[in-house]
Amino acid sequence: MKIGIIGGTGVYDSSFIENTMNHHIHTKYGEISYLKGNRNDKEVFFIERHSSGHKLIPSNVNYKGIISALKELNVDLIISTAAVGGINNCGVGDFVLLSDFMDFTKNRSYSFFDEEGAGVVHVDMTEPYCNEIRNRLINAFNAFNVPVVQKGTYICTEGPRFETPAEINMYKMLGGDVVGMTNVPEVILAREASLCYATIALVTNYAAGISNNSLTHKEVSENMNKMMGTLKKVLGYFLDHIELANWNCTCKNSLNELNSLK
Ligand code: HPA
Repeated sequence: MKIGIIGGTGVYDSSFIENTMNHHIHTKYGEISYLKGNRNDKEVFFIERHSSGHKLIPSNVNYKGIISALKELNVDLIISTAAVGGINNCGVGDFVLLSDFMDFTKNRSYSFFDEEGAGVVHVDMTEPYCNEIRNRLINAFNAFNVPVVQKGTYICTEGPRFETPAEINMYKMLGGDVVGMTNVPEVILAREASLCYATIALVTNYAAGISNNSLTHKEVSENMNKMMGTLKKVLGYFLDHIELANWNCTCKNSLNELNSLK
């Protein structure tokens, strides 16, 4: 089995996989660097979302490059991590398995099908995150008695600034649980690529106005570091136990309609 992991802010430590080597792949959307390693018989491809050294702001991440690299590498599924601010149903230090999202970004490249001749594609987003991965991640958290918030709606903002208290208040009223800057368009592109994809959101701070403190990247990084040990254990368990038997999601069928129209 081949598994892709997209490490977000603060998740640069790939020590839960062995025999790692640096590689590059040339995609239609540019060159993507990744670590290739293994955990027992599973091949694992680890990509830093913001590029090595956290160089890219959320608006400039090469989302298409990352997803098309993992598609070309033939992964069976992708797990991504995301640092988030907590709005509702969660607190600092919590792990939230995303189940839905709302898009408040402004200027990103949202689709592989935005070129002339690519066909008109409207992928279904009824279940944006793969339920099969989410269920197995829940098992992994349970194995260590680590509480996990089993569902949550992610608000994606453009950044790179943090939000205002008024914006967070609006997102809360709309039903948002956590806020971050990167899951859109990543989750959309994964679905367009017919890949199973799920995100573990790590609540590194309360969103603006929920706590009285001002927000800093330092707070985000420090809390992320505190959660890394647990995250690595959970990912290790997931990799040790994952198999595709009885896998019943429809992620792989996302383009069936397009193909039947051809
Ligand atoms: N807002 C947006 N993105 C974030 C936050 C936040 O509060 N925390 C970590 N990433």
